Amino acid sequence: MISSTQRLAPRDIPAAAAILHSGGLVAFPTETVYGLGADARNNRAVAGIFAAKSRPQFNPLIVHVADIAAVEEIAFIPPEARALAAAFWPGPLTLVLPTRDDSGLSDLVTAGLNTVAVRIPFNPIAQALLYEFGGPLAAPSANPSGKISPTTAGHVLDGLSGKIAAVIDGGHCDVGVESTIVGFHNSPVLLRSGGLPLEFLNAVLGREIARNTDDAITAPGQLKSHYAPRAMLRLNAEAPEPNEAWLGFGPHNFNAPSLNLSVSTDLTEAAANLFAHMHALDKISARIAVAPIPTTGLGLAINDRLERAAS
Ligand code: TXA
Ligand code: MG
Repeated sequence: MISSTQRLAPRDIPAAAAILHSGGLVAFPTETVYGLGADARNNRAVAGIFAAKSRPQFNPLIVHVADIAAVEEIAFIPPEARALAAAFWPGPLTLVLPTRDDSGLSDLVTAGLNTVAVRIPFNPIAQALLYEFGGPLAAPSANPSGKISPTTAGHVLDGLSGKIAAVIDGGHCDVGVESTIVGFHNSPVLLRSGGLPLEFLNAVLGREIARNTDDAITAPGQLKSHYAPRAMLRLNAEAPEPNEAWLGFGPHNFNAPSLNLSVSTDLTEAAANLFAHMHALDKISARIAVAPIPTTGLGLAINDRLERAAS
């Protein structure tokens, strides 16, 4: 237990890196959601992530690095992974790759698997922190296990204040949903839909990517109850009932407490607003009705998150 969590500014990155080197936990912004960072080669630091999040131990963590050279120090990159990396890194894509024997990664990061989930984030604060730290950072989303992922420093403090050393305040996350995860079991397999639309992956691969059908390799982020607000969610609603708050998509004019994911039905804007709006409505209402969201592009990830939150 840490008595108080420091809110750092981007200019404090050297201080943040020093905390990480000493085994402390620092939450930092990425373009998807805030990550809870720890030195991925320090077992005690990584264990601290599970403690702070009260996260079930069997979930492996995403490792964040600054560039491709740093990926190659910890993992092997098959040809199709290299094509996706060239097209989308830095960005909201995570690749699950075979781990090098000499990666030096804590076993807790990979949860005993011989693969590691790796991501090069685009966010300039994340980039600067990774270069300053000079090694791989394990970072799941910076929220208590089973709660909504944070897209502001305030969300991080709501869930983890007093449990982590610091958070770097980098404002809102532009993408707003977690990275898309792709594994390579002979050929590419989609393990989690997310901030990089499927259509973009398919365009680079030149075919439709396979969906994961093997339970053994399902990303634990796919657990049904993973994104759980306290409020009851009713999806694909036409209008709010009495006692329901309204989470809208497109123009509306209801006499209920409401927020709009995107008045202009822009799915990118909706994804960026999703977790912040769920956090906000969860605080004021026990019941939330949600407008229908299209299932194209980022709408797939948005519906996936909403369905998990509703179950
Ligand atoms: O956008 C994101 O991906 C955010 C930011 C902070 O980078 N991170 C994130 O991490 O969402 P987390 O820990 O909440 O989700 C990691 C997901 C989990 O579903 C985990 O099971 C999966 O990645 N994963 C990690 N290593 C894996 C592996 N070796 N094989 C299969 N899935 C893996
Ligand atoms: Mg998470």
